[in-house]
Amino acid sequence: MVLGGISLYGQENVNRKIEALMGKMTLEEKIGQLTLFTSGWDQTGPTLHDGYKEDVKSGRCGNLFNAHTAAYNRELQRIAIEETRLGIPLLFGYDVIHGYKTIFPIPLAEACSWDMALAEKSAHLAAKEAAAGGLHWTFNPMVDIARDPRWGRIAEGTGEDTWLGSQIAVAKVKGYQGNDLSDPTTLLACVKHFAAYGAPQAGRDYHTVDMSERVLREVYLPPYKAAIDAGVGTVMTSFNELDGVPATGNDFLMEQILRKEWGFEGFVVTDYTSINEMVPHGFSKDEKQAGEQALNAGVDMDMQGAVYQSHLAQLVKENKVKITDIDQAVFRILKMKYALGLFDDPYRYSNEEREKNTLFSKEMMDHAREAGRKSIVLLKNESIEGRPLLPLAKSIQKIALIGPLADNQEDLLGTWHAAGDASKVVTLKQALTDALPNATITYSQGCSTETDNRDGFGPAMDAAKAADVVIMAIGENYRQSGEAASRSELGLPGAQQALLEAIYQTGKPVIVVLMAGRPLTISWMHDHVPAIVNTWHLGTMAGPAIADVLTGAYNPSGKLVITFPRNVGQIPIYYNMKNTGRPFDAKNKYTSKYLDVDNTPLYPFGYGLSYTRFKYSNLKLSKSTIGFNEDLKVTITISNDGEYTGEETAQLYIRDLVGSVTRPVKELKAFQKVVLQPGESKTISFYLRSDDLRFYTRSMEYKAEAGDFKVFVGGDSADVLEADFELK
Ligand code: BGC
Repeated sequence: MVLGGISLYGQENVNRKIEALMGKMTLEEKIGQLTLFTSGWDQTGPTLHDGYKEDVKSGRCGNLFNAHTAAYNRELQRIAIEETRLGIPLLFGYDVIHGYKTIFPIPLAEACSWDMALAEKSAHLAAKEAAAGGLHWTFNPMVDIARDPRWGRIAEGTGEDTWLGSQIAVAKVKGYQGNDLSDPTTLLACVKHFAAYGAPQAGRDYHTVDMSERVLREVYLPPYKAAIDAGVGTVMTSFNELDGVPATGNDFLMEQILRKEWGFEGFVVTDYTSINEMVPHGFSKDEKQAGEQALNAGVDMDMQGAVYQSHLAQLVKENKVKITDIDQAVFRILKMKYALGLFDDPYRYSNEEREKNTLFSKEMMDHAREAGRKSIVLLKNESIEGRPLLPLAKSIQKIALIGPLADNQEDLLGTWHAAGDASKVVTLKQALTDALPNATITYSQGCSTETDNRDGFGPAMDAAKAADVVIMAIGENYRQSGEAASRSELGLPGAQQALLEAIYQTGKPVIVVLMAGRPLTISWMHDHVPAIVNTWHLGTMAGPAIADVLTGAYNPSGKLVITFPRNVGQIPIYYNMKNTGRPFDAKNKYTSKYLDVDNTPLYPFGYGLSYTRFKYSNLKLSKSTIGFNEDLKVTITISNDGEYTGEETAQLYIRDLVGSVTRPVKELKAFQKVVLQPGESKTISFYLRSDDLRFYTRSMEYKAEAGDFKVFVGGDSADVLEADFELK
């Protein structure tokens, strides 16, 4: 791996410098390099509590997170450089998840763009802004595959699909780290949460994870591996246990898989106090033992737990941990500080002038809007009086804009919005007012996203009655998804469902703008409301991005990366399920199904409408049989049968019909975007090779097996054309 032009184990020169420095370090100072503490916040900004400041001065803490801004971090860095014995620079980390100050769409939203260049650019711009704010290191990308929308952190990932998630992981690492970590517009990235944090039982955050090694390797591990292969410098452990062993003490994950199989050479940091948490997990009798287990399992840096700080020296004395292991961890961390250029100039990320010119620059805001509109998924758009309700007809005079998210700034930022500034968010009300200067827009909040108070229903209904069309901005507030925000019901929170039904009763056409951090269960809405625009939480430029779609300035192109269930009881529901021995048959009671709900989702993976209509035809394969080293060419024609220019994401899935272990009914293997003018057709080609057909066989070998396959191409995972081929 090359970081900042430094090959991690390659460059003798740097290695020698680090070794020379380590030769001067006391054990306490070494342990300091393995220690990461948070900076807290007061009214005016970040503050470091006095104990930590002393720790920095004495060399007992070599890394900080949640401290930012060029000036503040410069002062902390000054303490490390000028007031510590060895002057080793501090490393500053932060959760820059979907932007630093300018906030881009939440990751789940952005993944719906299926646009890798966009995903990379968001990461690059977030890095540029954050690095201008004094930061070196982001705790991102989060690549945890999630199939359970009850889990609030589904908002932070890229959805349910392993293959797509792996592509996005690569784009993010490239975007954050660039080609040179010492470039002050890049950040060191951290892939998290290793491993399988996205599969907690019952969707409850931090809960137990238990799965077969096959599922672990096939479904959950590939996106972390993709990030490692793309050169990510750091890995964060997860809070959960896996097969009875907490991830932070799990040598199978960290030593066997990460270091031996994948050759990872960067450093591993824990999640927040996750070493300490091995005690309540029931894996360690006390924190001292937890520290021993973590270090011996391969954890280099302790986030916030102070376990290494308190116990490692004693553990060395007792021969429970090896000094050589501590040295190796210190070496890995110092190497990263070298790669970031901090030994050349510890203040290179603290340039106030650059900070001023970068934060909220036009480049950031333009990208926020572009990323926002590409993330939006049009779920439904029925015709009223012979014309689809969206885009809004030019003739519309009076709009009632209703709902707790319609003129709301902070909630549109979504979960983990770092140092995002709510006052900079352009609301939907503002954006619609700007976009439609000739329309009268009457705003009424109606209710909140949390309470059952219905006092606002009356004014909202009056506004609706007086309007030509109603736009309702409803969904989740920013605290209702994300960490520690699991939900057992996924309907509209608070009184919003009741408000929606009351407004619907007025008989006015309703467009729902659904803002949320996860798929909600919206069967009633789907059955009654003519138009639904799922916008997720889009960040600083949410309002203009949504207005672009509502007015038709942008033709929606997003496709779901997560299945929308009909109800919570269907969860986990995902497109690449297994067939079972009794696949659904409506005429046979004894097949796999429910008595009270269909097996199908409300909206499948890959689904999303456009203002135009795409038609797929002429699926052709170059051969009906391919050898293990041959390409299969798959062609299909896509036509735009509607009235608007539009962008379509054509998706290719396969099914391996018989395997030494059973295979999913569909697996995404490729996609392509095509832009088509009205009336235009294009024929596109995909190439499949036997490498694309690999899986973990009965004997856990990763390879393709000869046999019969299906290939499917279409605009979503359910609506496809299909053909057959054989691998021989
Ligand atoms: C989260 C991590 C995050 C860390 C530091 C933890 O609670 O699980 O994703 O990076 O806090 O803020």
